[in-house]
Amino acid sequence: MLDTKTPQQGSRHGRWALRQPVFLIGFMGAGKTSVAQQLAVTRGLMSVDADEYLELQEDRVIADIFAEEGEEAFREKETEVLRDLAARVPRLIGCGGGAPLRAENRAIMHDAGFVVYLEVTADEAAARIPNTASRPLFKDLDTARRTIVDRMPRYEEAADAKVSTVGRTVPQIADEVADILEREGVLCRA
Ligand code: S3P
Repeated sequence: MLDTKTPQQGSRHGRWALRQPVFLIGFMGAGKTSVAQQLAVTRGLMSVDADEYLELQEDRVIADIFAEEGEEAFREKETEVLRDLAARVPRLIGCGGGAPLRAENRAIMHDAGFVVYLEVTADEAAARIPNTASRPLFKDLDTARRTIVDRMPRYEEAADAKVSTVGRTVPQIADEVADILEREGVLCRA
């Protein structure tokens, strides 16, 4: 599991606002959801996990959408969710690990907001994911290693900024993301 201890919590007190949606992308286990939640708590921002949002809409878990309708149907739904969230009030959006694979999705994210790529290795991702059965595409370590290498160019292409998560805690990663967003004028004091 990714370490979520927060020794520095509260050091960035005050009210903050996002000027545009922020899409957190990266492989499964990169910490997209945890980092979005950490920033939501420490900066008082809205956050949403795109997969959870889809599960709520569908009243079934992602693994069941894959099992019942297949990956392509899931990808269509994922694109609709991204389009929907991109048009809403700016918030932190934790994206599914495969979201940047479609050019259409990369365009939605790029046109609407700012994209942060959280980098992780397959080994560290596997250690962080407690239940890979909930991730239909996280089959085994060797496949995960190959998939990360295959996807890397798409992640890089989609990203406005890149942050390494290897060996780091959620608060450390979240603080670096916040610093980047502040520097880029995406995150500002309200
Ligand atoms: C996927 C990642 C998952 C989920 C689905 C497909 C992928 O999201 O969208 O299982 O293709 O990498 P997380 O990255 O949040 O686990």
